[in-house]
Amino acid sequence: MRRKLAAGNWKMNGTRAAFAEAKALIAAHPAPRCQILLCPPATLIAAMAEIAEGSPLLVGGQDCHADAAGAHTGDISAAMLAEAGAGFVILGHSERRADHAERDEDVRRKADAALAAGLVAIVCVGETEAERDAGSELDVVGRQLAGSVPDGATGADVVIAYEPVWAIGTGRTPTAEQIAAMHRFLRETLVARFGEDGHAFRLLYGGSVKPGNARSIFAIPDVDGALVGGASLKAEDFKPIVAALEDCADRE
Ligand code: 13P
Repeated sequence: MRRKLAAGNWKMNGTRAAFAEAKALIAAHPAPRCQILLCPPATLIAAMAEIAEGSPLLVGGQDCHADAAGAHTGDISAAMLAEAGAGFVILGHSERRADHAERDEDVRRKADAALAAGLVAIVCVGETEAERDAGSELDVVGRQLAGSVPDGATGADVVIAYEPVWAIGTGRTPTAEQIAAMHRFLRETLVARFGEDGHAFRLLYGGSVKPGNARSIFAIPDVDGALVGGASLKAEDFKPIVAALEDCADRE
């Protein structure tokens, strides 16, 4: 049984004023039937972890360095995230792949570091619109998955997020058939590589998940939750998404 996960990626948004949103989320879901995770900017992680203490809200980072320490100005190690109170870290998001030229092998090294620090790594994969138009989305995502997920990964410490680049922040989402086909492919690929444990990896969908479409996305086979950007910033938007996922968890 895979635990459902509603994950919010705040990206470069939020100051301490946004803690009101985290508090409202906790108040609305004191005993959720799924996991709820917020990944705020690094500056907010420690204080958000204090707010979340004793509540079901989980806190994560949005990136980490592959090395444990050293001369890497501006970077943060996985152990530093863990010490700040993070239990998760998003890795290989398409914005980092684009803005910081992160390659699959970089993401894999970061994931190794995250696992060594006891974090759960949320490894992101996803094709561009041109790649989908060319019909190469399975090739692209298959390559990203093979290159970005470390050999030591298990379903307990790595989550895969499928985020088609063209659906991020655009209000566009793939059809249910397109999401189903990709998640089926991810599952088959993980089982081929990790054997039975391949069934234990949670597969999140990400890209313009909103209150209005969450329920239908969560009904798709092999969708174990969502990685939500814009709609995770306001509790009023994220709460119905969490509620929709809880309803799926109920039915199982
Ligand atoms: P949006 O939900 O804003 O489309 O962002 C998705 C995303 O990139 C989450 O990591």
